Amino acid sequence: MHTATATTLYDRLGSHEGITRITRELMKNHLSNPLVKTRYENSEDLARVEQRVVEFFCAGAGGPQTYSGQDMLTTHRGMNVSEQEFITVIDDAMNALETCGIDAPTRNEVLAILWSLKGEVIRV
Ligand code: HEM
Repeated sequence: MHTATATTLYDRLGSHEGITRITRELMKNHLSNPLVKTRYENSEDLARVEQRVVEFFCAGAGGPQTYSGQDMLTTHRGMNVSEQEFITVIDDAMNALETCGIDAPTRNEVLAILWSLKGEVIRV
């Protein structure tokens, strides 16, 4: 039987190609989100960050890629990220998934993974 749960999260996100598109959409959302845009505008190399986010997504969803970036705690340490910023960044991600045609059960799976990382991002 072919159901949504019969494939990996990586497959359901459209593998590397789909995740690249989702991440492009995510960065677009961040850069037009008044609550967080300056965070990303201040990055020294947003193209590199975007590439690492693609890797992070791919590896975390069960793809064959290796994540070459820093862990979440090290990345966000000292940024003083607020609860509001965390929530709105997750909203940006959910909107990117919807724009890319990802179904609700799959979006919820990503939501649970992102939420589980809050202790490594908020005010660390
Ligand atoms: C669960 C939520 C989040 C995940 C999974 C995540 C993931 C990542 C990843 C993978 C990177 C790249 C790290 C690297 O280049 O080594 C990154 C960088 C970054 N994140 Fe997050 N992030 C999250 C939440 C947030 C929030 C809430 C903010 C604040 C608005 C934020 C701000 C940033 C910034 C500004 C960078 C770029 C740092 C630089 O220029 O090197 N992140 N994040």
